[in-house]
Amino acid sequence: MTTKITVLVGTMTGTAQLVAQELELTWDDGDTLVETLLMDGLDASVFEREGVFLICTSTYGQGDVPDNAKKLYEDLQAKRPDLSQLRYGVFGLGDRTYAETFNFGGKRFDDLLAELGAQRIGERVQHDASSGVLPEETAAEWGAEWLEQARAAAAQTA
Ligand SMILES: Cc1cc2nc3c(=O)[nH]c(=O)nc-3n(C[C@H](O)[C@H](O)[C@H](O)COP(=O)(O)O)c2cc1C
Repeated sequence: MTTKITVLVGTMTGTAQLVAQELELTWDDGDTLVETLLMDGLDASVFEREGVFLICTSTYGQGDVPDNAKKLYEDLQAKRPDLSQLRYGVFGLGDRTYAETFNFGGKRFDDLLAELGAQRIGERVQHDASSGVLPEETAAEWGAEWLEQARAAAAQTA
């Protein structure tokens, strides 16, 4: 069975997009169809697409989602759609130097989607830019197992 994965990218300086590109390259193989969308201009209706979702987002300001993610985040808050059919993962990017708000961008999406009834696949990743480990490396290691879990979740909801 073909699994569709939509990766939604929230980014300010492109790092989260590099992560998404790495994941798309490793996952997209004919059995798994991956589409990566920058969050710019998206609203809550994006979650009407078929398949599972990965939120891949960094953190800015005082623990905020990046500017290009704000419209989507605020639209979800305003419309509060029933997302109980939605299965999603979160790959968050942040920096532990911001101790009080570490990885809040991913956490904000995770908390909101859960409130709207969606179920997360796997653990929320919290990449730390101050760790010296490249986020693409973290993604490559984490991505194989997440793909298995995502394919199983997609098969259950199909
Ligand atoms: C101005 C600024 C504010 C930031 N604020 C936070 C923050 O509050 N919490 C956090 O975990 N990381 C914070 N970060 C770190 C970024 O989320 C991190 O560097 C990330 O890898 C950037 O990814 P991007 O290029 O996709 O936007 C901040 C970075 C900058 C430059």
